[in-house]
Amino acid sequence: MSDLAGLTEQARAAIGASDDLSSLDAVRVHWLGKKGVLTEELKALGKLPAAERPAAGQRINEVKAAVQAAIESRREALESAAVALALEAGRIDVTLPGRGEHRGTLHPITLARQRIERLFRNAGFAVETGPEIEDDFHNFAALNIPPDHPARAMHDTFYFPDGRVLRTHTSPVQVRTMLSQKPPLALIAPGRVYRWDNDLTHSPMFHQVEGLVVGEDVSFANMKAALHEFMQGFFERDLALRLRPSYFPFTEPSAEVDISCVFCEGQGCRVCKHTGWLEVAGCGMVHPNVFTACGIDAERWTGYAFGFGIERLAMLRYGVNDLRLFFDNDLRFLRQFTSA
Ligand code: PHE
Repeated sequence: MSDLAGLTEQARAAIGASDDLSSLDAVRVHWLGKKGVLTEELKALGKLPAAERPAAGQRINEVKAAVQAAIESRREALESAAVALALEAGRIDVTLPGRGEHRGTLHPITLARQRIERLFRNAGFAVETGPEIEDDFHNFAALNIPPDHPARAMHDTFYFPDGRVLRTHTSPVQVRTMLSQKPPLALIAPGRVYRWDNDLTHSPMFHQVEGLVVGEDVSFANMKAALHEFMQGFFERDLALRLRPSYFPFTEPSAEVDISCVFCEGQGCRVCKHTGWLEVAGCGMVHPNVFTACGIDAERWTGYAFGFGIERLAMLRYGVNDLRLFFDNDLRFLRQFTSA
């Protein structure tokens, strides 16, 4: 009979040395297979004297069981190591920043509009909107522009076959708000407007902001102060502001709003055409005919209105010299704007 303790040691060593499942299986065949070392030992029992066979058999079976258990536990260890390896190889670090990540930015016109809205909200103005497809009444008639009024020619209107129009200014929102709300009112109305016009400084679609304040003692001086305050807030600097007499059918008196040039501080440069002034808005006191068209008592209430282009203000604030850049969607241009 062989040295079973020695065999057990050998088997354990071989099991411990197998570092993958196939070499472990070879070890199993070598020790426990049909012609395996321990199987042969059992077959050899017959050669022993009958009295020794039971004890020897039991001993061999114990060794077999021990070897089997050692193989099993080694198999489990190898299998879980293989799983761990596969998991590690396929691991995804979800905290890594993605490759080629592009963070978008808001369009400069959106940034400017948000900035304008914030400044007016802080001054107590509500923000209203209206439809871009308007009827004649809201875009013209209620604004004191009757059908044969020459001012209609100034508007380069896009007409629909049914007589409706793409609004040529945001002033119809004045009308809509006065028809639906009771004074006192203080609001701005930002939005898209459309004119049949396309060159270096005009786009068929652009953005305006309308302003309207109606109250019992609203004055021309209040209007000038509000516009001055806003322009200084928008450009974040002290500016001079002046009003020049002008004409709009829906305001009386009417004025153009100039600010001192933000590029040369009023010294005179190419942008202000050496005048030192930039025209930035139109304004005036709400015409009594407009109040009447909107069902507001023109004897009791007074008001002012103003309107300006967002593109114009954005060009001046950001130093953009070509209006078309806003509509070309060239990412090299758009990416330069991250905050208002
Ligand atoms: N609606 C005028 C325009 O588009 C601007 C304006 C608004 C002027 C309100 C006076 C008062 O040119």
